[in-house]
Amino acid sequence: MPGTCVIGLQWGDEAKGKIVDLLTARHDVVVRYQGGANAGHTVVHGGQTYKLSLLPSGVLTPGVTCVIAGGVVFNPAKAIEELDELLGRGVEDCDNLKLSDRVHVIFPWHFAEDRALDHSAGSTETIGTTGRGIGPCYRDKVGRTYAMRLGDLYRPGAKEKIEQITAAKNKLLATLHDGDDFEPLDAAAIYEQYKAFADRLEPYVCDTTEYLLTAAEAGRNILFEGAQGALLDVDHGTYPYVTSSNSSGVGVSNGSGLPAKYVNHVIGIVKAYSTRVGGGPFPTEQDNDIGQKIRDAGNEYGTVTKRPRRCGWLDAVAIRYTSRLSGVDSICVMLLDVLSGFDELKICTEYEIDGQRTNVFPSHVDDLRKAKPVYETVPGWSEDVTGARTLDDLPAAARAYLDRIAELVGVPVEMVSVGPDRDATIPTEYRGVLAAAQ
Ligand code: GDP
Ligand code: IMO
Ligand code: MG
Repeated sequence: MPGTCVIGLQWGDEAKGKIVDLLTARHDVVVRYQGGANAGHTVVHGGQTYKLSLLPSGVLTPGVTCVIAGGVVFNPAKAIEELDELLGRGVEDCDNLKLSDRVHVIFPWHFAEDRALDHSAGSTETIGTTGRGIGPCYRDKVGRTYAMRLGDLYRPGAKEKIEQITAAKNKLLATLHDGDDFEPLDAAAIYEQYKAFADRLEPYVCDTTEYLLTAAEAGRNILFEGAQGALLDVDHGTYPYVTSSNSSGVGVSNGSGLPAKYVNHVIGIVKAYSTRVGGGPFPTEQDNDIGQKIRDAGNEYGTVTKRPRRCGWLDAVAIRYTSRLSGVDSICVMLLDVLSGFDELKICTEYEIDGQRTNVFPSHVDDLRKAKPVYETVPGWSEDVTGARTLDDLPAAARAYLDRIAELVGVPVEMVSVGPDRDATIPTEYRGVLAAAQ
């Protein structure tokens, strides 16, 4: 029973990093398989806070192999920065990192394109990307003409390829800047810089597809660390206000190179309310005092970009959809402590679109924009729950809130989180992933 995956069921930042860190000790291998340094996963333990954008959150647990698989778009400068920071803080096990030679490399032109094209044609609302070059790099990967994989940097012709791509990108960027001041990119400098990155990273680079297939065939326990959230999935999310990878459960196989038969358990991560950073529709958004109260209590500011996150009530229509889409077996409800102090809470159980009630999540963003949430109001609780370590320690209203979420989403709650630290976690009687991954 080797494969467990951790998938965010909302718009990212559901506290996946905390659950990956908790589950890592039960696994031999932890894999990042999609996205890139647009992620910001926070792990808190031993009084220390670690913020990881690119390295798997498993890197903090000794003896675990961490893999960055081929589906990731890879910013080498960021990887080196994170490695150096961890080494500087005494995390010694970075030797266990394996870096796919298939990852597509993010270059300076990708950052420039990300800044210039942060919108969908015909729309006035920006996507609000993280500016990390993610979309442009995936675009070049699929387009093939201007793409380079990490393995290419170790082959003859790398310099010439960088020169050709830089020349083409300078033309494109000049057009995008449309007469504004534009400093052309310097191919020779880029080559030197990326050659140095490649030299530094060479000890970690290998064929991770082969490594993972062999590990799975040998029955090793593999933990897949999803980045972003299922509502940001490029095919199944709130397109075009999404990221550029398959961030729902359906992306695990193509990103990692491991067939779906090795994914045995999917654990969905759900924040006890909703947040979104960047543009796009958000039916339960509370752009008011309620949203601000949640933002203050949950410290809802982006890990990567520090932007204030948009906050709102829990949306069970959306989570039921992403849970089914991702094949979720059980959920973890995170940041429950943030909701202490509300007299009552609202859960969106249906949408009203053009006068019709539905519990189907719309496929078109225009319909989602029109969706009026139909709320169920439930009692809140005033107690501080950060010290709770069993379900019985929680106020009855908090337990009822969890039960109602499980009922609406249609899967059991396996863990509840009441604070950032590893210890601030409540297991429930349901043991799905926890029982399987021993
Ligand atoms: P990720 O991207 O899904 O890994 O989530 P982020 O790290 O971006 O955001 C989650 C934030 O919530 C981090 O700052 C965590 O340290 C913090 N956190 C995790 N679990 C809890 C919890 O149960 N309560 C509170 N108050 N904070 C939490
Ligand atoms: P983690 O893994 C929250 C959002 C951006 C933007 C959209 C596209 O920490 O949950 P991109 O830079 O990917 O092209 O931006 O996706 N976004 C995230 N929001 N958490 C994330 O990652 C995100 N990664 C991207 O804000 O709306
Ligand atoms: Mg995050």
